[in-house]
Amino acid sequence: MKRRAKAAAPKQAPQKRVVKTLDRALSRLGFCSRTEAAGWIRSGRVRVNGREQTDPEAWVELGRDRITVDNKPLFEGRKRYLLLYKPKGYLTTWRDPQGRPTVYDLLGKTREWIFPVGRLDLDTSGLLLMTNDSEFAELVTNPEFHVPKTYLVKTSTLLSDEQLAALRRGIELKDGLTRPAQVVRLRDSGGRTFLEITITEGRNRQVRRMIEAAGSQVLKLVRTAIGPIRIGRLEIGKWRELAPEEVRALVTYARRQAKRAARTGSRRREPPEPV
Ligand code: URA
Repeated sequence: MKRRAKAAAPKQAPQKRVVKTLDRALSRLGFCSRTEAAGWIRSGRVRVNGREQTDPEAWVELGRDRITVDNKPLFEGRKRYLLLYKPKGYLTTWRDPQGRPTVYDLLGKTREWIFPVGRLDLDTSGLLLMTNDSEFAELVTNPEFHVPKTYLVKTSTLLSDEQLAALRRGIELKDGLTRPAQVVRLRDSGGRTFLEITITEGRNRQVRRMIEAAGSQVLKLVRTAIGPIRIGRLEIGKWRELAPEEVRALVTYARRQAKRAARTGSRRREPPEPV
């Protein structure tokens, strides 16, 4: 059986330097694809620490190097942390060549350089964090830090206890075995199963692929929590700033998880305390 290589656990609580090539940095921040970024860089629109940089492969450190596009700084200094209730039908990108709506259309005047922390599929709704803090984004998205993401799922068929057990144990996908997941059956109704699933990875379309591998399909997928941050009563399509204690709770939780994984090599996790 193919096993996913276990990510090397960090030796100490991460105070990560995020170093990337310039084209990757721009695409990672969600402004454009990597190819578009390379075009902007080669055409002289991008400066690093005041100097024009035309090499897409130049190394930059996010959060330290001052990067501008058309003289507009990527980071204004103040760290921003937003929680958006992404509706279905919105893309998690800066803009879409086909003109479909993106999550940035929901931000109104807050159209500054903030980027999504991970992605939700077009057809997935729910909790999306957005920030200009790349270290925070790394803590939340890097599977090394085991930050759990919780989803409500409606499946196209009734799932048996064996199918749920397979999802819990870890299920074989084409990119390897998934980590154990927490799965709770909420109810069965009208030939569908409604469940809550919590995973600690963020592979592409992971929940949909897990349900398919278990022999069913996802009809509806909503992300309700990331670590201790919950979507709560926010209306669909609306956003709010995270409270400082929410940011602290998430960062502390991720660091504790990473330390724990480094100490024990354990895949178990502490349940997050909701804030
Ligand atoms: N898993 C999915 O399949 N899709 C998402 O958008 C998020 C998790």
